[in-house]
Amino acid sequence: MPKVVECITEMRKVVAEARLAGKTIGFVPTMGALHEGHMTLVREAKKVCDVVVVSIFINPTQFGPNEDFDAYPRTWAEDLNACRSAGVDVVFHPHVHEMYPDNWGTWVTVEDVTDKLCGKSRPIHFRGVATVVTKLLNIVQPDKAFFGQKDAQQVVVLKKMVRDLNMPYEIVMVPIVRDVDGLAKSSRNVYLNSEQRQAALVLYKSLCKAQELCRSGEPDSRKIREAVIACIESVSLAKIDYVEIYSFPDLADIDTLDQDALLAVAVKFGTTRLIDNTILKSNHICGG
Ligand code: PAJ
Repeated sequence: MPKVVECITEMRKVVAEARLAGKTIGFVPTMGALHEGHMTLVREAKKVCDVVVVSIFINPTQFGPNEDFDAYPRTWAEDLNACRSAGVDVVFHPHVHEMYPDNWGTWVTVEDVTDKLCGKSRPIHFRGVATVVTKLLNIVQPDKAFFGQKDAQQVVVLKKMVRDLNMPYEIVMVPIVRDVDGLAKSSRNVYLNSEQRQAALVLYKSLCKAQELCRSGEPDSRKIREAVIACIESVSLAKIDYVEIYSFPDLADIDTLDQDALLAVAVKFGTTRLIDNTILKSNHICGG
């Protein structure tokens, strides 16, 4: 069984002991409801680090007032089992009050790269993510922290944050894990009914269409974006929040695919908002 730690002081002690024993620390922050996507991050961490710490903390500060904080799936027993099977060493599972005590009031805001994509439709989201990840990194002090390309903008934001604030942690990005039919694994997929889940397959289909265009040599990012929009709009249950192409990892505006680019989509199926993305390689090799 992994060691379960709820308090910050103990977490620091456990990590300090591992360090004294000469061990490297890999860290996988999560909000629980663990699935294959999360477990792939754990496997990657285990490959290159001696001790793997997983945090399970549904961070209230990254949810907007009308978002799904209350409904977010909470599956503690299953999560702990998954961590045991994957050989996780420590599960950090703090209470909200441990992370945000009374009189708490310091935020980390990352500029520019948070204005677009999910930052537009979720204005306080990245402030909450940057703040909680800073706190978690300061508590665990890992050598490397692992994040999924599934949330590519989150990776961009966090890489910028550790660089700008001179934080001595390496942020490692791990590719997207999908179901066999192409739907990206997500803790929010449980909200979908069978009709919506079927409709949601259009996300991967539209990303593959973009890769196809890219490989065939289409250089115009606007044309690729339009093709993706048309593909998604052909499914009546799909309501687009955004479909955008930016340079990767800078997230700068681009017209021509003469450098690696992130094609990112956010689409609602009923009340469930799903995100997905792919990296369009400038040398026309498929990615993501
Ligand atoms: P959560 O949504 O639980 O995701 C935890 C990590 O798993 C993130 O790095 C996410 O990108 C990764 N992940 C989720 N689905 C994936 C998939 N299908 N393939 C690969 N990786 C996947 O992201 C968060 O939590 C929070 O914002 C957090 C960083 C923990 C801060 O609260």
